[in-house]
Amino acid sequence: GRRLLAPSAIARTGETFTEKGEQPYPVPEAMTTAEIRAALEDFVTAARRAIEAGADGVEIHGANGYLLHQFLSPAANQRTDEYGGSPHNRARFVVDVVTAIAQAVGAERVGLRISPEVDFGDVFETDRDDVLATYGTLLDQLRPLGLAYLSVLHIEPGGDLVQELRRRFDGKLIVNNGPLGGGQTTRERALQQIVADHADAVAVGRALIANPDLVERWQGGHPQNEPRPELFYGPGAEGYTDYPFLEAV
Ligand SMILES: Cc1cc2nc3c(=O)[nH]c(=O)nc-3n(C[C@H](O)[C@H](O)[C@H](O)COP(=O)(O)O)c2cc1C
Repeated sequence: GRRLLAPSAIARTGETFTEKGEQPYPVPEAMTTAEIRAALEDFVTAARRAIEAGADGVEIHGANGYLLHQFLSPAANQRTDEYGGSPHNRARFVVDVVTAIAQAVGAERVGLRISPEVDFGDVFETDRDDVLATYGTLLDQLRPLGLAYLSVLHIEPGGDLVQELRRRFDGKLIVNNGPLGGGQTTRERALQQIVADHADAVAVGRALIANPDLVERWQGGHPQNEPRPELFYGPGAEGYTDYPFLEAV
């Protein structure tokens, strides 16, 4: 019964899980300016709470078809106000959110994750020039803040786009191409990306889920537990806290 909000009233294709089984995604309501400001305040409040609760920092999720990504995309964002239209306008909400959070908790505690050209949730970004213009102006405006890092999900971390965005950001870059790159991030792939200087660090997902001592295993070149996808979204401890440590194998 909750309201569904988005930059524009566009439903994504496909179906989602509901109490009544799988149903088509509903059409969201286009956010009003007041709702955009309220969402910004919610982001800031959440970040403050994370720091108060003891987290070292917060990663702002501007990737993978979620709300911030939707604002950046010319397909998902068809607004005609100051939050839509030009690349600069589409970047505005993300710039505002990241800037406000950096002011609230300190830029050195804030990272941003983006996924340009990744069309999860129908957030299509198919025009390379527009992608460069949009993410370029985004990073030009964030660069002076001195954020902790930029984390980019892209199929080609060493390619022109990501490396241009790295120059525009001019800070620490983390990359990940897992779900698009065929198979999970491996030690070898991560090593290649670092040796080739595609990034300062590589983010690891599935290997870390399955190996509580992944760092020690990768340091020593030891074998790994295989992730069990059937347990990925399970509700209990199984698949979360019961993968064995190396010494127990
Ligand atoms: C169980 C699972 C859940 C995930 N959930 C999310 C999510 O909610 N939001 C998101 O942006 N990415 C999510 N991801 C994608 C990861 O952030 C990461 O990009 C992906 O796993 C690729 O990295 P890897 O090859 O190291 O696993 C998820 C991945 C897995 C395996």
